[in-house]
Amino acid sequence: MEAIRTKIQERYALAATGAGCCNGNACCASDYSADELARIPAESVLGLGSGNPVRVAGLHPGETVVDLGSGAGVDVFLAASVVGAQGRAIGVDMTPAMVDRARGAAHSPRAPNTSFVLAPIERIPLADNIADVVLSNCVINLSPDKPAVFAEAFRILKPGGRLAISDIVQERDLGKIEDDCGCVATAMVRAEYLNTIRDAGFRELHIAEDRAWRTGPNGVEASAVTLVARKPGGR
Ligand SMILES: C[S@@+](CC[C@H](N)C(=O)[O-])C[C@H]1O[C@@H](n2cnc3c(N)ncnc32)[C@H](O)[C@@H]1O
Repeated sequence: MEAIRTKIQERYALAATGAGCCNGNACCASDYSADELARIPAESVLGLGSGNPVRVAGLHPGETVVDLGSGAGVDVFLAASVVGAQGRAIGVDMTPAMVDRARGAAHSPRAPNTSFVLAPIERIPLADNIADVVLSNCVINLSPDKPAVFAEAFRILKPGGRLAISDIVQERDLGKIEDDCGCVATAMVRAEYLNTIRDAGFRELHIAEDRAWRTGPNGVEASAVTLVARKPGGR
């Protein structure tokens, strides 16, 4: 597991320096409007996501948001622009160069309601029940322990809190494959992925966006899904 983590950290340390995603292949997809991009620091946008989870999260001013695998901070800054001065947006990422880049971006212009934590998303150093919303964008597919990530998301959410994530799922078991992006080879098969979220305790799971991500001779092999689910209680 440590070897996988080290490899991922090396890859995203390169991406953090602006070397670009996926060895230059066009396999990552940004999904931000001109209006959204105008509200956030340009250095936070590396084009490493698979969707726009903030758009489906239904954020309100004053809410606390945690973004798992925040990279250079694109979704943290976007969420911060919605939750405002009374709210806060916290990014969690295990790659030091990414966290450094995100913290640097927070100074231009200053975003006092943002912070960035260096940590693995399988062991998040945040208290129970602190978040109204947990976001993640094209990250959980990379984790070697996806049940632990969803258990942590559930733990830090308040009762009634929302999970809003974009991620990659395989449409059938692709076995060992060549994968320049790295996000398809380590992704779960769709049904198993959705069951892992439900097994963590989430309910009201709803897929808001669903599009083909990788196609092969037999059709769609992997999709980018953006979904919302809820931790029971609290209403
Ligand atoms: C594909 S990038 C997505 C970054 C960001 N969410 C975005 O949309 O731009 C994946 C990010 O997740 C981080 N990451 C991958 N696995 C992680 C883990 N197990 N714990 C914490 N961070 C992780 C990487 O360091 C990298 O910054």
